[in-house]
Amino acid sequence: MTPHSYDVIVIGAGAAGMMCGITAAAQGRNTLVLEHNESIGRKILISGGGRCNFTNTHASPENFLTQNTDFPKSALARYSPQDFIDLVKKHRIPFHEKKLGQLFCDRSARDIVQMLLDEARAAGVTLMTGVQVKEVHKTDAFQVATSAGLLESASLVVACGGLSIPKIGATDLAYRIARKFEMPLLPTRPGLVGLRFDAGTRETFCALSGVSLPVEASCGRARFAEQALITHKGLSGPAILQISSYANREQPVQLNLLPQLDVRHWLMSDTKTPLAKRLAQVFPTRFAEVWSAAYAPARPLSQCSKEEVDGVIRNLEAWAPAFPETDGYAKAEVTLGGVDTRSLHSKTMESRSVPGLYFIGECVDVTGWLGGYNFQWAWASGYAAGLAA
Ligand code: FDA
Repeated sequence: MTPHSYDVIVIGAGAAGMMCGITAAAQGRNTLVLEHNESIGRKILISGGGRCNFTNTHASPENFLTQNTDFPKSALARYSPQDFIDLVKKHRIPFHEKKLGQLFCDRSARDIVQMLLDEARAAGVTLMTGVQVKEVHKTDAFQVATSAGLLESASLVVACGGLSIPKIGATDLAYRIARKFEMPLLPTRPGLVGLRFDAGTRETFCALSGVSLPVEASCGRARFAEQALITHKGLSGPAILQISSYANREQPVQLNLLPQLDVRHWLMSDTKTPLAKRLAQVFPTRFAEVWSAAYAPARPLSQCSKEEVDGVIRNLEAWAPAFPETDGYAKAEVTLGGVDTRSLHSKTMESRSVPGLYFIGECVDVTGWLGGYNFQWAWASGYAAGLAA
């Protein structure tokens, strides 16, 4: 059977794959984007609470976790947040800044998916959805065996994402293709994900599910001042999601529960009032009661030893409950680790060892903070590969 032949095949019609396909086709390349879901961009649709936080005006290489901090610089510099904003404006999509440079659609994430479909059509991209990839080989060209037959291309772009949210189509195909071509992979783990308490802490705190507090979450040198939210199983909310990407076995995640106060000074300004009552001045009442019962002596601070007072302060400034597990890939917004960037050219995302093979987006070991950074990486890496492929 003669395979259908293209200049470029992109596997995965998510954010990175669509941007890459559009860019390659706009250069005059005969480009196919393949997707196993029946429709494109399903993760875009659920992103940002359905409004897609499509970029961050402050995006810079410091907002990304990777083993190779120089790697994202080139792609991020060549396709900036402003470039994507210009595209959104060209399509007259209304948007707003929510906070901290985070740009969201006013109406719905559907606007971004429709924009990508319109751009793909205008550039002449061929889109195939509902197609399963069975195998990939390289002879002179890349051969992709699919449920729609054998396809062939000079360049192959792997844009099929990480392991997060299998329910809407995440698979390990990107890593399998990397392994097949003997490219190095870094261990993967869920990122931007809720952290679960151990059984004891869960029993104490999860009755407070829904309570939210401003905290400063830290792990090692990383720190984020944002809201934390108590859930049925542990903690979530922006501060926790951010710090989850940095959590590791060696350093505990710590929470300063009163980042706005000099805690010792504030506590010692009134040592007669029972602590639960004092904490109710700065915390939601139920949280103050439960936290005090768990960590504070029942007596007023004036009757406590120095060690007891220090313990209370430590637990307020650096609360470090154990988090033996996370909510996992079922809930994680991103996958950390993946294709080792040392095996890719940073300007083009092309493999150093297999000419014509490209990896972009979340399957690469570049993971952004919460707040539009991950889409900016998807657009920028997709654009870089689309120009080169
Ligand atoms: P993405 O996962 O988007 O696309 C991969 C595509 O490949 C998918 O369409 C998938 O179906 C397809 N695919 C997978 N396996 C395949 C196979 N075997 N064969 C064929 N196709 C296959 N980021 C951000 O910046 N702002 C935000 O608001 C949010 N919000 C958010 C909410 C939630 C709930 C999640 C889970 C994630 C976010 N993110 C986010 C993260 C962001 O969605 C993510 O980083 C990008 O979608 C990654 O883009 P990619 O194109 O690399 O992968």
